[in-house]
Amino acid sequence: MIFRSRGPSAAAHDENAMHTVTIQLPTHRYDVVIRSGLLADLGEVTRRLAPAARCGLCADDTVDALYGESTQAKLRDAGFGVSRLNFPAGEDHKHITTISALYSRCIEARLDRHSPIVALGGGVTGDMVGYVAATYLRGVPFVQVPTTLLAMVDSSVGGKVAYNVAEGKNLIGTFYHPLVTLIDPLCLGSLPRRELNAGLAECVKHGLLGNAALFDWTESQLHNILALHTDTLEQLLAHNVRLKAEIVMEDEKEAGRRALLNLGHTFGHAIEVTSGYGALLHGEAVALGCVTATFLAVQQRRCGSEVLQRLEAMLSRIGLATRATLASDEELMEAMSRDKKVANGRLRIILPTGLGSAVIDDQVPAGAVLEAWQYIRS
Ligand SMILES: NC(=O)c1ccc[n+]([C@@H]2O[C@H](COP(=O)([O-])OP(=O)(O)OC[C@H]3O[C@@H](n4cnc5c(N)ncnc54)[C@H](O)[C@@H]3O)[C@@H](O)[C@H]2O)c1
Ligand SMILES: [Zn+2]
Repeated sequence: MIFRSRGPSAAAHDENAMHTVTIQLPTHRYDVVIRSGLLADLGEVTRRLAPAARCGLCADDTVDALYGESTQAKLRDAGFGVSRLNFPAGEDHKHITTISALYSRCIEARLDRHSPIVALGGGVTGDMVGYVAATYLRGVPFVQVPTTLLAMVDSSVGGKVAYNVAEGKNLIGTFYHPLVTLIDPLCLGSLPRRELNAGLAECVKHGLLGNAALFDWTESQLHNILALHTDTLEQLLAHNVRLKAEIVMEDEKEAGRRALLNLGHTFGHAIEVTSGYGALLHGEAVALGCVTATFLAVQQRRCGSEVLQRLEAMLSRIGLATRATLASDEELMEAMSRDKKVANGRLRIILPTGLGSAVIDDQVPAGAVLEAWQYIRS
């Protein structure tokens, strides 16, 4: 390891460029394994953890076209009768209609309560298929194989599964942990650059809120990360999974420090909603949200302006915007007040207090928030 991070340590070891982060919760324990080429071991690993006659392989159409055939072959070689359960790609399909169709197809495929369900794909797939695994026959074995950077470092760690309703994103969901999460960085080779950059926004956020050394490391390795240098990607993934795992292990249900992971998200969600879902990727909105929150933190004298400068410089090098055309103040404030993170009618904003630390502040005056919006408005 290049640096040590704070907090209770996730058991981790580097061995033949394999990184394993063990998630130890009061009621669950499982490994997140990171290694290039790991997808080839999916069948064997799944069989060891969930021996059964059949399994379901769930992916959106895009990921299925890329990895469905080869992944099915690995599961079949391990002795499973494999049913490929696909659905259309995109956030619009993270919906009860897709889930309902998946339930029917699980029944048709005669998946029983021992049959593992594999979620192969980005965060939409992980969240939605995880929800299916949590509820089909009151819960079946679940294996996560995230294929976007965002899913690898964020959505596949922590057990939150959910789907969207017309009133908002992720409003229906539960906690459901996989038996194992397998991360193969080689999958990032086919990911569109814009999606990769959006995932990097969450990595930058992790360093900013929880680990200055991670921020420094990401800054120093950015060239290799953007060039998809395999060793560097493995390390990037291991560092970020470990940071999220440490926070989740402290606080599985988001009573305390886990809320800090929402840095940039109260602003980011407001930007997403008011710009029309789909105009910006989630990570792009989070990058803007982190700049807004950090500007606010500087104005509130919670952190020095050099943090804002380094954040903006890093996001710009990645190719993420730090300024945007925004909706009106009224629309933005209205969207913020509808956010899930509002408690007792007060906005709870996560503010960095320096590089690598952050706090929740529910006393920020509305005028200061408007000034922060103005700062990023281009
Ligand atoms: N559960 C959590 O804790 C948590 C945390 C953060 C985000 N999320 C959720 O994650 C979702 C966003 O995830 P996402 O950004 O991964 O979106 P996504 O799953 O829609 O994937 C983005 C796009 O990339 C494609 N794709 C995926 N892997 C690919 C690959 N290897 N090569 C080429 N194309 C590939 C997909 O088909 C899709 O079109 C949101 O719904 C969000 O709510 C959940
Ligand atoms: Zn996010």
